[in-house]
Amino acid sequence: MINNRGIVIFGGTGDLAYRKLFPALYNLHCLGSLPKDYKIVGIGRREYTENDYIEIINAWTKEFSRLQYTDKDFNDFRKRIKYYKMDMNNMQEYNGLVDFIEENKMRDGLIYYYAVSPSLFGPISKGLKSANCLARKEYNVNNTSDSCCMGDTKVIIEKPFGKDLESAKEIYNNLKSYFKDENIYHIDHYLGKEMIINIMTLRFANAIFKGVWNKDFIEKIDINVYETVGVDSRAGYYDKSGALADMIQNHLFQIMSIVAMEEADISDSQAIKKAQSNVFKSLKKVRDDEIDEVLLMGQYNGYRNEDKVAPNSVTETYVAMKLEIDNDRWRGVPFYLRTGKKLDKRESEVVVSFKSTSEGVAGNNLIIKIQPDEGVKLNFNIKKPGTEKKIIEEVEMDFCQSCILENRINTPEAYERLIKACMDSDRSLFSGWEQIEISWNFINRILDLYKKNSNKLYFYEPGTKGPKEAF
Ligand code: BG6
Repeated sequence: MINNRGIVIFGGTGDLAYRKLFPALYNLHCLGSLPKDYKIVGIGRREYTENDYIEIINAWTKEFSRLQYTDKDFNDFRKRIKYYKMDMNNMQEYNGLVDFIEENKMRDGLIYYYAVSPSLFGPISKGLKSANCLARKEYNVNNTSDSCCMGDTKVIIEKPFGKDLESAKEIYNNLKSYFKDENIYHIDHYLGKEMIINIMTLRFANAIFKGVWNKDFIEKIDINVYETVGVDSRAGYYDKSGALADMIQNHLFQIMSIVAMEEADISDSQAIKKAQSNVFKSLKKVRDDEIDEVLLMGQYNGYRNEDKVAPNSVTETYVAMKLEIDNDRWRGVPFYLRTGKKLDKRESEVVVSFKSTSEGVAGNNLIIKIQPDEGVKLNFNIKKPGTEKKIIEEVEMDFCQSCILENRINTPEAYERLIKACMDSDRSLFSGWEQIEISWNFINRILDLYKKNSNKLYFYEPGTKGPKEAF
């Protein structure tokens, strides 16, 4: 077992690093989860001194860390941070970086985090490999052939994993020629969210849910991820991607597969991935003539005026999709997936609607609240108090997990959990390549059908629930 020595963040001056990665690493530092000599290198093109850089990290960490920020903790944390300036497209500059890594004694037990556009993945891997091969020979380390130049170095890549199946494959095959397969981690930060991980426990550790989690008792399932934010500084990327690729193909599909999968041993990451993949494989093929019943695309008014968005852009900022899983557990139960930007509220939840037991009686609803509140809510029927026996009323039990201070303190933020999982070589919280491949296949077909047979775009006002046709 190799000790963890450090992490090198390509895109160290980007939004993701500032908002998510450094605050997560600060939390891990405060919890004592980073080894004593663990180093964090941020890579960027800007002319920052180490001190400038650390001051910037300080401000973001103060604002975004989950655990209480203290000057004392940060003064300790700052000793881990390094800044390395380089042009990631310039192959010559990687020798310097690898020397820097060597000087800081980080080479073995290292994670490279690609928090950059996928177009840079290839150049970075290539630069690192040739510089590593050179360095390994110089430093007289064994194993200088083939991908072993990268030793047991891990790499974390951020989505988008391509913009379609072809480009996703290209990225993956390219990475595989540099890193060992088991060292490539596809991050989907939704898999690090507490209540998404909790879905399995909720389903499999409770007889009251486990026994009825199927088509005989469930009417439909809604998975909603609503956002109030727009595209902001990410418009350049977003306009080429859209909500289908940005949110549905990964985050919502992952949630759907956990909600729908067969039971698997929670401690066996391979078994979980396999159970999830089986759900993707069972997705019912959409017929050519039913695309309008299955997919609705929307765009918020004003999107086309955003900086870096094409004035006639047809990129969707809202998607509603109806899916069916064609297996014995789910045949006939619709799964509705909805996500959108600039909506009236930030809210992610899974709503499981149970069938009614008799006419006029409301079916039970189980709501798994993912964010901003975390918890579980159950609606059920009771007799209304009084002498009249027949009057049934709906009541609710509401468990708010995040309302309990101790839970808030003990619940790691998604990136914190995922970086730690990567350090521990725990792959259960990362997307598997097979899942990415199947989900792209499905999405590609839907998109082709949409372009061929529909092309409708529904506009909606910012601050509303999205296109009313989506409901
Ligand atoms: C990212 C998407 O993966 O997830 C963004 O690219 C989206 O467009 C974000 O805003 C939502 O994440 P969260 O954790 O804020 O729900």
